[in-house]
Amino acid sequence: MDLDAFTELLTPRGLRALAEAEELAGADPVAAATRLRRTYDAALTSAALTQAGLRERAAAKFGADAARMFFTPHGLEQSTRAEVAEHRARRLAECGAGPRVADACCGIGGDFLALARAGRTVEAVDADPLTAAVARANADALGLGERVTVRVADAATVRPEDHDVLFADPARRGSRGRTFDPMSYSPPWPVVLDLLSRARLACLKVAPGIPYEFIPAQAQAEWVSYKGEVKEAALWTGAGEPGRRATLLPGGHTLTATGVEAGTGPVGRYVYEPDGAAVRAHLVGEVAELVGGWLADPMIAYISGDEPVDTPWAARYEVVETLPFSLKRLRAALRARRVGNVTIKKRGSAVDIERLRGDLRLSGEESAVVILTRIMNKPSVLICRPSRPA
Ligand SMILES: C[S@@+](CC[C@H](N)C(=O)[O-])C[C@H]1O[C@@H](n2cnc3c(N)ncnc32)[C@H](O)[C@@H]1O
Repeated sequence: MDLDAFTELLTPRGLRALAEAEELAGADPVAAATRLRRTYDAALTSAALTQAGLRERAAAKFGADAARMFFTPHGLEQSTRAEVAEHRARRLAECGAGPRVADACCGIGGDFLALARAGRTVEAVDADPLTAAVARANADALGLGERVTVRVADAATVRPEDHDVLFADPARRGSRGRTFDPMSYSPPWPVVLDLLSRARLACLKVAPGIPYEFIPAQAQAEWVSYKGEVKEAALWTGAGEPGRRATLLPGGHTLTATGVEAGTGPVGRYVYEPDGAAVRAHLVGEVAELVGGWLADPMIAYISGDEPVDTPWAARYEVVETLPFSLKRLRAALRARRVGNVTIKKRGSAVDIERLRGDLRLSGEESAVVILTRIMNKPSVLICRPSRPA
């Protein structure tokens, strides 16, 4: 879809085509196109069908709003899920930030929509004209048009000095797909850091795997997971003490680095698997403290403990057997327990899980969780039963 096609989609005729395309959801694509082509030309038919499909996909991220919003495939893929954007908007309110926000690379508006809904006024830019048009349409569609302006511009032209808050979520997709190197972000990392340094309060969304050496010393880094999946890291400046924290959504639990180190010891009665946000934020010691646990290997983020502590920060498994890793021994142990169904997890193991699953040739009516790991640097297996999911 190009800018002309999108502009036509926003006209009354275009919106009728979109509504008809949405009614045809689930129909055979060729039949749907043929039906729309009776009334609309090929470009509008294609734009309407594409948009209807994107709205359907977007419901997972934007809930009921998706049915009123507009997307591009890349814009949807790169957008922040509504619950995460709402969390960010709440945090800004807690920081006592002023109301004027600059969004330096707004995409289709996933972040600024939550900020505008929380009462902020947003000046947003995006370098891509189609994406900026989609963002503007989204602000209007959700009744937030009066609080949001969107310009087509380069992030480098944004003046953080004129705003209370700078927000930036650089694109992490290059021509060769997803990039993990901040130097390949767009806008480029030096531009983003310059904006950050000029802002009173800034929040920069980055990939969860950002190498620690890229995190500015004055930043508070927050890793956020949603339903157990790590979604992002956000680097906050001017918003509290520097350091590391992790947040779990939708629950809203937050854990802050205290520097406590986990001790080491033999595998206990339970093994705890910390949430990925805590692992990325290097808060395994803090989670171990919460469950009264320790590490069976100082380099591996599985926590052992003897007490069944309930925490949102870790899934808990009850260890029924610990073995040195060997396919033969594992197969025999699972057969002896009549295990036909395994969930296999691993940390610190190079074993190919799907291949192992095939090689185990299991049969039986029991279920088990098999954890492949290292214990004091030796490849090991824990056979467990779920005790409580996180
Ligand atoms: C990750 S997306 C932003 C997603 C957005 N936060 C959301 O939730 O919808 C990054 C955006 O940055 C834009 N962009 C890339 N380079 C830029 C630049 N130099 N100046 C302004 N925008 C840029 C891209 O067009 C893309 O839409």
